[in-house]
Amino acid sequence: MSCPAPTPEPTGQDRWLCHCLQVTEAEIRQAIDRGEVGSLEDVFTSTGAGIGSTACHRRILKVLKQARIDEGMPAERLQPAGH
Ligand code: FES
Repeated sequence: MSCPAPTPEPTGQDRWLCHCLQVTEAEIRQAIDRGEVGSLEDVFTSTGAGIGSTACHRRILKVLKQARIDEGMPAERLQPAGH
C-alpha cells in the first residue's frame, strides 16, 4: 500500500503520525489514555495507524515508549509488530 497524495498536514499535537491513514499523534495518545493500546499491533487495531506503508512504525513506537515512561506501562507490552 502506498501513501495517498499529500494534503495539508495539521500542526502541533495534531500532526499526523501516520500519513497514510491520516492518524494524528493526539489520536494515538487518546487511545493510550483510554487503555486501548499498549503495543504497536494494538495501535493498528484501535486507530488504523500503521497498516499502510509502515513508515510510521518508529514514530508510533516512540509515542508508546514515551507513554510507558509517563505512565509506567510494562515494557513487555511495547513490542514491534509480529514479535
Ligand atoms: S505512514 Fe504509512 S502506514 Fe503510517
